[in-house]
Amino acid sequence: EEGLHATPYPWEHEKFLKTYDHAALRRGFQVYREVCASCHSLKRIPWRTLVGTMMTVDEAKALAEENEYDTEPNNEGEIEKRPGKLSDYIPSPYKNDEAARAANNGALPPDLSLMVKARHGGCNYIFSLLTGYPEEPPAGAVVQSGLNFNPYFPGTGIAMARVLYDGLVDYEDGTPATTSQMAKDVVEFLNWSAEPEMDDRKKMGWKVMAIGSVLFALSVWIKRYKWSVVK
Ligand code: HEM
Repeated sequence: EEGLHATPYPWEHEKFLKTYDHAALRRGFQVYREVCASCHSLKRIPWRTLVGTMMTVDEAKALAEENEYDTEPNNEGEIEKRPGKLSDYIPSPYKNDEAARAANNGALPPDLSLMVKARHGGCNYIFSLLTGYPEEPPAGAVVQSGLNFNPYFPGTGIAMARVLYDGLVDYEDGTPATTSQMAKDVVEFLNWSAEPEMDDRKKMGWKVMAIGSVLFALSVWIKRYKWSVVK
């Protein structure tokens, strides 16, 4: 059963000439960390990739150090704990899938690293999902116990309850943290996590176009020059 079709939104980073809004990525990461990270992993993202894209080296180091990681086994085969480093990956909230299900009524909160690419509708879908919980399910809707009604979720009964509410986080840049603002920021952040090379790709596209058009013009000129005697 298909969910309600997501509303298309004019995402800034989807525009041909635009890179990510890096202030939005920083806010979006804050939403991930303060809201989503208690249930969802972001397994593919090492701390170091946050440097320069949404924070300073020192900020990223400090966040990494707040977490404990296992050391390599020593000669006796013992594993110890050490503080995180920039090269470590953002840790998952649960030890394994069984623990994750046990904490979520049997449902598994999926890893969010590639979620924007994994779901039909991408950014529009996730934004619609996060902002699409009605106060009450519509009359006549059948909602299994333990599930929440959301028209955008295929099947409409989703194990994740509404998580975003106005004012839930405190943005340091003064942006009002409305439900839709937080949803927009976290979706942009999740687009970055799924496609961190987008900015470089777009900048490279410019160079290819610039150099390519010079070479093309040159080749037209050479062709005319070489063939001029044949006329
Ligand atoms: C599923 C995003 C917070 C628990 C999902 C899905 C997305 C998502 C995109 C997949 C929906 C699909 O399969 O199509 C987010 C974001 C969050 C957030 C961006 C923060 C803003 C949370 C929190 C919890 C949670 C805090 C736990 C309290 C779950 C569970 C599922 C899920 C259990 C599986 C739902 C099902 O298959 O029925 N979430 N989530 N999520 N999320 Fe979250």
